Amino acid sequence: MRNDVSIVILAAGLGTRMKSRQAKVLHRAGGDTLVGHAVRTALKSAPPERIFVVVGHQADQVQQAAGNSGVRFIHQTEQKGTGHAVLCGREQLAANGGLLAILNGDCPLVRPETIAGLIEKQAASEAGGTLISTRLDDPTGYGRVIRDAAGNVQAIVEHRAASEEQRRVDEINAGFYCFDAGLFWKHAGEIRPDNPANEYYLTDMVEILLRAGHRIQPFFIADSAELLGINTRVELARVDRIFRQRTVRELMLEGVTIERPETVTIDASVKIGMDTVIEPFARILGRTTIGENCRIGACSIVSDSQLEDEVEIAPFSSIAASRLDRGAHAGPYARLRMESHVEARGVVGNFVELKKTRLGAGSKAQHLSYLGDSTIGAGTNIGAGTITCNYDGKKKHPTKIGDRAFIGSNSTLVAPVEVGNGAYIAAGSVITDAVPEDALALGRSRQVVKPGWAKTRREKT
Ligand code: UD1
Ligand code: CA
Repeated sequence: MRNDVSIVILAAGLGTRMKSRQAKVLHRAGGDTLVGHAVRTALKSAPPERIFVVVGHQADQVQQAAGNSGVRFIHQTEQKGTGHAVLCGREQLAANGGLLAILNGDCPLVRPETIAGLIEKQAASEAGGTLISTRLDDPTGYGRVIRDAAGNVQAIVEHRAASEEQRRVDEINAGFYCFDAGLFWKHAGEIRPDNPANEYYLTDMVEILLRAGHRIQPFFIADSAELLGINTRVELARVDRIFRQRTVRELMLEGVTIERPETVTIDASVKIGMDTVIEPFARILGRTTIGENCRIGACSIVSDSQLEDEVEIAPFSSIAASRLDRGAHAGPYARLRMESHVEARGVVGNFVELKKTRLGAGSKAQHLSYLGDSTIGAGTNIGAGTITCNYDGKKKHPTKIGDRAFIGSNSTLVAPVEVGNGAYIAAGSVITDAVPEDALALGRSRQVVKPGWAKTRREKT
């Protein structure tokens, strides 16, 4: 990280080609917004107080998405082009000497090492500026890099303004620049909106600096994949796929088995231990950590959750903001949410929902239950169909069940209510009052049997 570089991230545009009411840089790929990625990348090359994000469309949301890392903002109220965007920061930036790096905010795959390389290349040269170029099979839409005989950049010609011959050039401007800051500000005012789009093009700085006697050098990157810009939702999906491939590849190299990796979605922020198996179509998102020897079943979604070692999530489960301790099991078709916690070897089976509920060590809720705002001790069995009635239409109430209790099938526990250690609840009970330790509670009417009644009825009709 250098202290003599200021970084400007261009993020004020609407992104007309996205056909969206949302600013382009707020769209998401690889588990984060485009502006979020750009800021994270910039933070690897400069301290936050030297990073400036140009905001315009939905400025508030873009500022929020940029995070509270301490980066600063430049307001571009009218979007008159990439050159105009940087010029809006003249007051805040012109006093900073050294280097001025400028990053397009719609190119989230670029690696921090590549940006560091760009800055180093400029720092080590006497050139007026350096820009990243690459070669694309289909350069349509990008600015073309026109080189002189010495290999320096002579001009960037935007696709719209390019001649037939220029359009055949497959070397493109990736949208990442590093200038000598003093030179940049000395000449930036010379950018004119003299193009079909009537915009102030940042790329005009190439010819402007050239005229003033300063050369612009290319920093050629052979791997074009990391330089894909996003202008449409088709490109958004393509970039997202590349992010996903990167993440699953890294995880596999670190010892995670991923079956059918092309179907799996894992955010870069997720941590997974060795020998864990991820089945097809799983989605693992946000601040999730998963231990060793776990299994995440097919089509399950795990977000912002902590799983210790040996945890098994069977297929089609949804685990959100919850915790499962060593050896716990959930699913298939389980739903855990809002800080639920399954302690060691606890079991949550099919069609069981836990909300803000702690299920103690070795306790089981195997089938068809709703347990909300509940605390359940260790070694307790929750029978099929048990429901905690935690909501009275106005407020939520807690249910507390002790250790080694047995809740018979189809019981209804009307909260607030407590069931003591070792207590039994008869199947089909409605429990409205506390059940003491080791007691049996029956909350249902007795069965009545009328011998011969059915036969008599048949004979009458
Ligand atoms: C730009 C380059 C083009 C390059 C391409 C690489 C110019 C004139 N052209 O074209 O040479 O090949 O990127 O992806 O720079 N923005 C603002 N304010 C504005 C306009 C844009 O902040 O007034 C921001 C956008 O939010 C976006 C970035 O600048 O993040 C690039 O803008 P965009 O319109 O996508 O430029 P391209 O046409 O792709
Ligand atoms: Ca673009």
